[in-house]
Amino acid sequence: MRQSSLVVVANRLPLDDNAAPDGACEWRRSPGGLASALHSILRQAPATWVGWAGGMGPAPRLPDIGSLRLRPVPLTAEEQRGYYEGFANATLWPLYHDAVQQPVFQREWWDTYRAVNQRFAETAAEVADRHAAVWVQDYHLQLVPQMLREMRPDLLIGFFMHVPFPPPELFMQLPRRVELVHGMLGADLVGFQREQAAHNLAQLAKKLLGAETTAGAITVGGRTVRTGAFPVSIDVAEMRALATRPDVRSRARQLRRDLGESKRILLSVDRLDYTKGIEHRLTAYSELLRDGHLKVRDTVLVQVAVPSRERVESYRDLRDRIEGEVGRINGEFGRVGETAIHYLNQPFDRSQLAALYQTADVMVVTPLRDGMNLVAKEFVAAREDDSGTLVLSEFAGAAAELEQAFLVNPHDLDGLKQTLLRALSADPADKQARMRAMRRHLAEHDIMAWARAYLTALDHTGRLARRMLH
Ligand code: ADP
Ligand code: G6P
Repeated sequence: MRQSSLVVVANRLPLDDNAAPDGACEWRRSPGGLASALHSILRQAPATWVGWAGGMGPAPRLPDIGSLRLRPVPLTAEEQRGYYEGFANATLWPLYHDAVQQPVFQREWWDTYRAVNQRFAETAAEVADRHAAVWVQDYHLQLVPQMLREMRPDLLIGFFMHVPFPPPELFMQLPRRVELVHGMLGADLVGFQREQAAHNLAQLAKKLLGAETTAGAITVGGRTVRTGAFPVSIDVAEMRALATRPDVRSRARQLRRDLGESKRILLSVDRLDYTKGIEHRLTAYSELLRDGHLKVRDTVLVQVAVPSRERVESYRDLRDRIEGEVGRINGEFGRVGETAIHYLNQPFDRSQLAALYQTADVMVVTPLRDGMNLVAKEFVAAREDDSGTLVLSEFAGAAAELEQAFLVNPHDLDGLKQTLLRALSADPADKQARMRAMRRHLAEHDIMAWARAYLTALDHTGRLARRMLH
């Protein structure tokens, strides 16, 4: 068994098993913020990524990506139901996103969640070299840090939460709240997107475990765990390189011609998730068409909504509702040759996404709650000429950084409508100044800066960051 000095443990591997049209099996980069972010920094790293490759049954054999080894963890059908669809995505995910959808508490899911966390911890322990660093990711694997510490006290253990971590009033609803907090505190460093989340964890540790807390540190059972905010980002250089590629540019020009040269293009790109505010956005757009503020003659909405977690009931219901609404809006407002909404329910590769981002006049990113939202950052990075405007929800982590976006509360329909109109008719000099400021921020806060900040906080000597990031 080959061992690594850095092991990343995440529910999902960066590759998705996908059946090609001819029935052959194809590996494709998985959509979703975590895979996008980590794939960028790890594809050249001397590391092992432990994760699930999607699908059920025995783990497939996966090729290395450069010097990155992939170590798949298999899940049975029952584990996929109880751990992934159940506890992770029907209990924790909605609760951590402000309970915008009612969390489901089913007692039998807990045992599966714990057993699968144990398997991830054992696999990580197997592939980690002596004194290695193990970096555990996200809400699926909250018990892994403590499990790993018990098995391998020699390891340096980091945990990073990509999604929001809720205030105690919400978290306290969880029947297994003590175990979950205890599990995370097995790490040496617990990182979040926002400072408030670290504060929430400290309050919970105090309340549930009698911990002592100071700014950035939680002491419990004689051990001190550090906490902090490390806002995740994107591979700015990759997106810029894509955006300037001649084939991407010509694809973008073609898209614009196809959509109508004179039209103003609104674009949204989301996983099909109830946290993304897609329904609120459709309502606002439809009311603007009904009120006559927008006309299909000169405006079009492109909504990319990649299917996600389709075996979870609330996701299937959401898809039905959205598709019904898109049909209704197109039926009511469309004209022959003039569609109100182009609805694309497909995955795209990075260059296609880059072309789409370049085509938009206004990028509309309006989640009801989002840990970060990398789509907003990708759009900004793709606009080499400082054109285009970004409408961004105040409830996305990205709003704390992209302050020059047109910020909006997506629950306030009138506010959302007005903001869309403002963004559409903004003065070109104002638009350009906003975009330039956001691009400047991103250039300094890219995915490398995120990884460097986290890994240096985890290992003060700086050795880990240097080895990982060259
Ligand atoms: P989340 O992690 O909740 O999905 P983010 O906005 O942080 O939200 O990340 C989404 C990631 O998935 C981005 O990197 C984006 O480029 C990618 N993505 C979104 N839609 C698609 C799609 N249709 N095809 C491929 N990748 C997509
Ligand atoms: C969010 C989560 C990730 C997850 C991604 C896609 O970004 O933070 O952990 O991988 O959504 O969701 P999926 O369920 O398809 O992995």
